[in-house]
Amino acid sequence: MSELKNLLVEELQDLLNAENQIVAALPKMAEAAHDAKLKEAFEKHLAQTQGQVGRLESALALLGGKGDAKPCKGMKGLIEEGAETIEDGRDLDDLTADLALIGAAQKVEHYEISGYGTAKCLARQIGEREVAVLLSQTLGEEESADYLLTAITKPLLQQSISVEFGNGTKMPWGEPGETSSSDPSRPVMGGSKTRVASGSGVAALKAKKAKA
Ligand SMILES: [Fe+2]
Repeated sequence: MSELKNLLVEELQDLLNAENQIVAALPKMAEAAHDAKLKEAFEKHLAQTQGQVGRLESALALLGGKGDAKPCKGMKGLIEEGAETIEDGRDLDDLTADLALIGAAQKVEHYEISGYGTAKCLARQIGEREVAVLLSQTLGEEESADYLLTAITKPLLQQSISVEFGNGTKMPWGEPGETSSSDPSRPVMGGSKTRVASGSGVAALKAKKAKA
């Protein structure tokens, strides 16, 4: 086997292990979600992920590689963080807990998007077209899942801001529910979570409102 083909097999084995970890984690994410659409999104993605495992097994069979997955340490870390997010969410209000959960899920999606993007490109470069098609299908699903999570975030964030500051309050960074980017596919959780949940910005705004 050529070195590049061997590299592709290793990438796919890593992704297969990552997907199997996600299959085990998603039911816990769905159980922890409060919002009905978020719960549904996690359940839908679980079914999709089981299909993605099948695609990776097919791709590995095409390459003559063993399907045995090697441990994906990156995904292990992200899933451990997700478990912490679920645990911490028990002390938060439902909206904030769901927003934190989405943040953890989008980190997983972006890790996968990165992995599938690299593997698809490599498969194309070495002429493994059938494998590239399989990887491309999964990549599309991961991107859609990420897009859906961003779409679910928007009303939750708007509700959370309304609860915290009152309806119609103009935030220093824009109207409630606005994100820093007009690109709907861009993840918004990092900055948004900090703005909603962290002390300094919120405290400063509350102090400003109290003075007014
Ligand atoms: Fe996946």
